[in-house]
Amino acid sequence: MEIYVVPDAPATGVVAAGILAAVVRSKPNAILGVATGSSPIPVYEALAAHDLDMSQLRTFALDEYVGLPAGHPQSYAEVVRREVTERLGLDPARVAVPDGGAGDPHEAAVNYDSAIREAGGIDVQLLGIGHNGHIAFNEPGSELDSRTRVEVLADRTRQANARYFRSLDDVPTRCITQGLGTILEARQLLMVVRGADKAEVLAAALSGPVSPECPGSVLQLHPHVTVVADQAAATHLDAFRQVTLQVATPSA
Ligand code: F6R
Repeated sequence: MEIYVVPDAPATGVVAAGILAAVVRSKPNAILGVATGSSPIPVYEALAAHDLDMSQLRTFALDEYVGLPAGHPQSYAEVVRREVTERLGLDPARVAVPDGGAGDPHEAAVNYDSAIREAGGIDVQLLGIGHNGHIAFNEPGSELDSRTRVEVLADRTRQANARYFRSLDDVPTRCITQGLGTILEARQLLMVVRGADKAEVLAAALSGPVSPECPGSVLQLHPHVTVVADQAAATHLDAFRQVTLQVATPSA
């Protein structure tokens, strides 16, 4: 596992985008797994500044709420359209998000899992981590070999995401999420973490027991993991050899 520690959130974006850009340069038709939430935003911002032809990329998002009306600004389909597809100039036909509006979301989840496999699998999967250790929306208790499926969101996750909605009541209760087993099939995992509020859970995921109680702990089972953390998130990672990078960011 490689751990890069950088001064702040914009720097996490610069370093993670550099890793993604190298993948795209060597494989222009790479398949990227994209995440939503706040952590990957600096990554997409920094990646957009690279002079890269991304027209042949395919992307698969990690997850989606179930039951939001089509076009809802906080649906991940819309977030991915704004933050990824438009920002990076991707071909919308090559960008996939689970269908949270499907009549049968369970079937949609199974089809999504198959689509990833049929596309040849994900080359690099970008990940954040939730305060309860979730990755994608695999909440504590998720099976380590779980597949893409419908899940019930944990209260803590709904509370954390209420910042994007008018009220907590507006946050959906269910989602479609790639499973932990699905995520582990990606050829590389790239986790981006920022903030002191993630320091404990990041250390638990990387050095605690591998257990469904901390879904992020599955990173320990994968042979090619890169973590990019800001200093605040990295304070509990003493057990690891870390590479500290001084990174020039546009705002620095
Ligand atoms: C989003 C996702 C989630 C987030 C996590 C952290 O697609 O899969 O696991 O990565 O909730 O969210 P932020 O980055 O907003 O703290």
